[in-house]
Parts: sequence; structure tokens; C-alpha cells
Amino acid sequence: MITEKPLTCSANEILWEIERGATIEFLPIIGSKKGKLLAEEIRKAKPKHVLEVGTLIGYSAILIGKEIEEGSEIVTIEIHREEAEKAGENIVKANIRAKVKIITGDALKVIPTLQGCFDFAFIDAEKTEYIQYLRLMENKLIKGTIVFADNAGIFADQMKDYLDYVRDSGKYKSRYIQVGDDGVEISVKL
Ligand SMILES: C[S@@+](CC[C@H](N)C(=O)[O-])C[C@H]1O[C@@H](n2cnc3c(N)ncnc32)[C@H](O)[C@@H]1O
Repeated sequence: MITEKPLTCSANEILWEIERGATIEFLPIIGSKKGKLLAEEIRKAKPKHVLEVGTLIGYSAILIGKEIEEGSEIVTIEIHREEAEKAGENIVKANIRAKVKIITGDALKVIPTLQGCFDFAFIDAEKTEYIQYLRLMENKLIKGTIVFADNAGIFADQMKDYLDYVRDSGKYKSRYIQVGDDGVEISVKL
């Protein structure tokens, strides 16, 4: 008997499929090495409300969503409609426990409209805008929130104002972690 391919796959299968496609199409996903670090931070923090800036086609949202507990929510913002739609398809196929809300729009306009608070933020959109995303979301981040910022190695110059702020403002305890030829900045809101 020939069985039909299920409409949903495991999250790991979808992640692997996206990784493969990303290499061919040069898509800037966080990738498996830095992704492992992101997953570890999520497992430690056990967040209930995650805010992601920069969805692309859903790789990192799936990575986060497969680690967080049932009943938790991810709000993810993507400026390009086509990418946001593809992310929606990938997230449905990945069949993760978390509820994922994709908002299509410019994070600089969307973040101020968001209701409620967040206890984990992943920033991975336009590098020169990281500082603006953070300042706009800051009053929605509870004490102890982890702000995980990608590309703090290769784009450190473009993110200088962001890195100076999380390291020197006294509002965060921040550390840089090198991963391969790039790195991430992990900042805990004090
Ligand atoms: C590096 S990719 C995100 C990769 C994704 N986080 C992952 O690891 O799978 C950056 C994404 O941010 C989006 N972006 C850039 N500026 C944005 C903005 N102002 N608001 C929302 N999304 C934005 C881009 O369209 C792109 O899809």
C-alpha cells in the first residue's frame, strides 16, 4: 500500500531542509552552530513570550519553537511578505508545540504596537537598526529577559551603537560569544 506523505514533518526535518536550501540560495539563517547556542539559551530560560525580529523563512522561529513549552508564544516580525508567507508554511509543516504569530511589517513600526511583555528577544534583522529595535521593545521586556543578538562578530561595526549600549548602559549584563567566524551578543536585562 502506498501511503501519502504526511502534511506535517518533524521540526528537525524542516530545519535540515531549510539549512540545505539556505546553502544553495545563500539565505542568511542563523544556521546550526549559532542555532545550537540559541536553543541552549531557550532551554535554560524557558521563556513564555518570545519576540523575534527578522523571521526570514522561519528557521530560527522553528528552532526556538521546538524548544519552548506548550502554551508559550513566539511573535516574529518580517518586513517582506513573501518571506513571511514561506515562514508560515514552514512553521505549519514543522508542527511545533509553540504558538507562532508572524507579523508582516517593519519592526520599527510594529514593535511599538505590540501588547504585553516578553521574556526572551531574538534580534536578527537590519544590523544598523538593532539599537532602535531594542530601545522600542525595552519597556516590554521584563527583568531577566535574555536579548540574543545575531551577527555581533561579522557586523560588529554596523552594530556598534547597539553593542556599546548593552555593554555600557548599566541596563544589561552582556557577553559576546564567538562562534566560528561570527558571534552573538547575549544580554540579560537587569
Ligand atoms: C538574517 S535574516 C533573519 C534570519 C532568521 N532569523 C533565521 O535565522 O532564520 C533578516 C531578516 O530580517 C528582515 N528584516 C530586515 N529589516 C527588517 C525590519 N525593519 N523589520 C522586519 N524585518 C526586517 C529581512 O527581510 C530578513 O528576512
